[in-house]
Amino acid sequence: MNFNVVLLPGDGVGPEIIDAAVAVLNAVERKFGHNFHMRALPVGGSAIDSTGVPLPKDTLEACKAANAVLLGAVGGPKWESVSAHLRPEKGLLALRSGMGLFANLRPVSLYSELVNASPLKSDIAKKGVDIMIVRELIGGIYFGERGFRDGVMGQEAYDTEVYSINEIERIAKIAFEIASSRNKRVTSVDKANVLDTSKLWRATVERIAKSYPDVKLEHMLVDNCAMQLVKDPSQFDVLLTSNLFGDILSDEAAAITGSIGMLPSSSLGAGNIGLYEPIHGSAPDIAGKDEANPIGTILAAAMMLGTSLKLVDEAVAVENAVKRTLAKGLRTKDIAGGKKHVSCSRMAEEIALAILN
Ligand code: IPM
Ligand code: MG
Repeated sequence: MNFNVVLLPGDGVGPEIIDAAVAVLNAVERKFGHNFHMRALPVGGSAIDSTGVPLPKDTLEACKAANAVLLGAVGGPKWESVSAHLRPEKGLLALRSGMGLFANLRPVSLYSELVNASPLKSDIAKKGVDIMIVRELIGGIYFGERGFRDGVMGQEAYDTEVYSINEIERIAKIAFEIASSRNKRVTSVDKANVLDTSKLWRATVERIAKSYPDVKLEHMLVDNCAMQLVKDPSQFDVLLTSNLFGDILSDEAAAITGSIGMLPSSSLGAGNIGLYEPIHGSAPDIAGKDEANPIGTILAAAMMLGTSLKLVDEAVAVENAVKRTLAKGLRTKDIAGGKKHVSCSRMAEEIALAILN
């Protein structure tokens, strides 16, 4: 079949990890007889350099018209001093919002091969980690009113968190749907002992839960959740949370799997089209060194195949190829524990070969 995929390499290690994912997608094309028309467009800092804005209109239009979008990473020290509305990250936020992608799914699993790379004590790691983080993506404090102003104690800055019932309902439904096909447990994470947005979040999630009697709902305060993630992550199935809490908890959850380089994510809205990206950033310190771990991006490509392109066998083939390559002992630097490691491009070649063989 034919598909249109927009590639957004972005900044830092973005281009390297997107090349890695393309090598794997090329193997999928060959093995399964598909045709992915892949077109690379600018976003983030590189878009600021080439067009003056972090999300050029043409990029957004092409993304909306594609079957799916695969993104590397945005940001870097080069653009730290540009004014806030021109920061590379603004490009990513405008893309998520412009495409209406309110649901960010971040699957967290600890591969048995990587138990030693996990900072968890082995008795905790052995119990396994298999969590789906469902993060609200286009609301909350990321998108509320903000600014600088003169206050009674001099200059001050403020950011506001706003959540409507409608925004909470639609993300909660996604979490319950996903839990229905997993272990039937939703942990909704908030700060309802302090924040009004969290009180509304809790009450709304309670109401949605009534339509899913098979799914067990539990509420957890975000500070406790951060602690539970390192004490016993095996207790969680689906974690449902806001934009900011989801950002923070997903980095923590990634670390317990051995490396932030391992985790993919998909961002979905009302339609089929999705944005797929690793959860990590642009890692400017290792950019251009062919050292990054491409697995998060390759697994994001697998999510793209399974979700937006509805190529479920192909998605499973990519996931299995990743597992087989790890089982063979290949490791990028971040998961090698100081031992022998391979480059980003070599890891991708091996995964592509595993698909073809
Ligand atoms: C993520 C990233 C982004 C976010 C940044 C780059 C704006 O940290 O996808 O987790 O905060 O959402
Ligand atoms: Mg983040």
